[in-house]
Amino acid sequence: LTLHVPCDSLARAVGADLLAEALREEAERRQLPLEIRRSSSRGMYWLEPLVEVDSAEGRQGFGPLSADQAGALLDALTDAGNPAPAAVGLVEALPFIHSQQRLIFARAGLTRPTALEDYCASGGFAGLTSAIGMDGDAIVTEVLDSGLRGRGGAAFPAGIKWRTVRGAQAAQKYVVCNADEGDSGTFADRMLMEGDPFVLIEGMAIAGLAVEASMGYIYVRSEYPQAVQVLREAIEVARAAGWLGADVGGSGRAFDLEVRVGAGAYICGEETSLLESLEGKRGTVRAKPPLPALQGLFGQPTLVHNVLTLASVPVILARGAAFYRDFGMGRSLGTMPFQLAGNVRQGGLVERAFGLTLRELVEDYGGGTASGRPIKAAQVGGPLGAWVPPAQFDTPLDYEAFAAMGAMLGHGGVVLADDSLDMAQMARFALAFCAEESCGKCTPCRIGSTRGVEVVDRLLAASDDAARDEQVIILKDLCDTLTHGSLCALGGMTAFPVSSALKHFPGDFGLKTSEAE
Ligand code: NAI
Ligand code: SF4
Repeated sequence: LTLHVPCDSLARAVGADLLAEALREEAERRQLPLEIRRSSSRGMYWLEPLVEVDSAEGRQGFGPLSADQAGALLDALTDAGNPAPAAVGLVEALPFIHSQQRLIFARAGLTRPTALEDYCASGGFAGLTSAIGMDGDAIVTEVLDSGLRGRGGAAFPAGIKWRTVRGAQAAQKYVVCNADEGDSGTFADRMLMEGDPFVLIEGMAIAGLAVEASMGYIYVRSEYPQAVQVLREAIEVARAAGWLGADVGGSGRAFDLEVRVGAGAYICGEETSLLESLEGKRGTVRAKPPLPALQGLFGQPTLVHNVLTLASVPVILARGAAFYRDFGMGRSLGTMPFQLAGNVRQGGLVERAFGLTLRELVEDYGGGTASGRPIKAAQVGGPLGAWVPPAQFDTPLDYEAFAAMGAMLGHGGVVLADDSLDMAQMARFALAFCAEESCGKCTPCRIGSTRGVEVVDRLLAASDDAARDEQVIILKDLCDTLTHGSLCALGGMTAFPVSSALKHFPGDFGLKTSEAE
C-alpha cells in the first residue's frame, strides 16, 4: 500500500507529520506493508492534511485527516466494508482542481520535491534540454514571443528584460530570483519552492544560458526555512546530475546557483533593496536608473525575477511560445497562480489563465467567506493592494482591467473579508504598515506614513462634518503625494488600500458617500 502525505509546510503545520507517523505506527502494528511518500501539496489548503492513495481510476483523497484517524483510514483501505474517514473522492475530479490550468504548478501534489526521478518522469528538464540546443538570442525571442510578464507584480515584459541583460557587455552577469515573498496572504512562491524546486532551478538555468550569466542567487526570506532547505538539497541533486555547474546539461556552458537568506524586511522584496542585501548591506532602495538589468548585483548586469516568472520559463521552452500565449487575454498572457486567503471557506492555490473574474475566484473556488457572513471586499495584490467591493467582482483578472479601476493584481494574492471588517482600520493599518516597513530613504513614505496614521485617527475622532471634511482633504492629498512622490512601490502603493477603503466604504470612516468623493 502506498500513501501520499504532503510535506508542504502548511500541511505540516496542521498535522501532516503527526499523521504520517501515526500511519506508519499503525501499519507496523498490523504488519501491513506501507510506503509513505511525502509529496508536495495540491494547494487545497482547507483539506490539509490530505492523504491520497492510488486506485485504478486515479488518486483517491481523504482529508482533512488527523493522526487519530490513521487506524480508521487503514481499516477502510484494507477492507472495503469499512467506512472511509473524510473521503473526498477522486482528487483530479474535484472541481477546484479539475477546472484549473496548471502550467507552473503542473506537479503540485504529484511529485516528491527533491526526487529527481519524479521530476524527470513528469517532463522535467525538457525546457532546459531544448534551450541547450538554441543560441541565447533564440531563447530570448521565445520568451519575448510568449508574452510572459513579471509575476512579482509589476508585469514588465520578461523578454525585454532578458534582451537588455543579454545585450549588456560585462565579464560577469547574474540571475537573481526574488523569493522574498512578503505580501500578506500570498504563498505561491513558498509552495513552489517547497514542492517543486527543480522547476525554479531549471528556469534559472535557462535564463543563465540566455543572458550569459554564469551565477544565480535565490534570495529567500528567513520566514521560509523549509523552502531554503529544500532548495539547497535540490541544487545539490541537480548539480550532481549535471544540470548545474561548469557544463550545464552537456552544453559546454556554466551556470551555478546559491541560496541566500534574507533577514525579514518587507522592503528587501523590492529588487534594488534585495540586491543591496545580497551584497551584505542594509536593505535600502537604490534610485533607478541605472536599471539592475544594466548595473545590478555588484554593479554587474543582473536579471532579477520573481519565483513564478522564472518557474514559467521551462514550460515555455518545452512547449513553445505559441502554446503559452494561447492562455490568457489581452496583454496578460499565460497563467497566473492566484492565492486565496483571509476569511475564505476554501483557501488555496488557483492557477488559471488570466481572464477569469474575481467573482469566479472568490465564489466558485473560494466558496465565499469562512464565517458564512456576506463578503464585504477582497484585497487584491497584497497589503498595499486595493480593496475591491463585490460590485466590481465581475472584473476579469487581467493587469490592464485592474489598473483601469485603480487596483492591481500584484503577486496574485486575494484576501477576502466579511462584513464585520472595519475598512477605516484597514486604511489605518496600511499606513502603519508603510511606516513600519519604510526603508526611510524618501520623505513621503518615511514621514507621510506616520502622519497618515494620525490623520486617520483625527478623522475617526472628528465630531462634526466640517472637521471630517478637513481630514479627508488632507488624507487624499497625502495619498496623492505618496503615489507620485515615493521612490519605490512601498510608498507608492500605500495609497491603494487607503483610497479604495475611503471610496468604497465611507461609512466606516463616519462619512456620507458625498463627503468621501
Ligand atoms: P518597475 O515597474 O519599476 O519594474 C519592473 C521590473 O522591470 C524591474 O525588474 C525593473 O528593473 C525592470 N525594468 C523596467 N524597465 C526596464 C527596461 N527598460 N529594461 C529592462 N528592465 C526594465 O516595478 P518594481 O518597483 O520593480 O515593482 C513594483 C511592483 O512590485 C508593484 O507593482 C507590486 O505589484 C509588486 N510588489 C510585489 C510584492 C511581492 O511580495 N511580490 C510586494 C510589494 C510589491
Ligand atoms: Fe524607502 Fe519608502 Fe522611499 Fe521606498 S518609498 S524608497 S521604502 S522610503
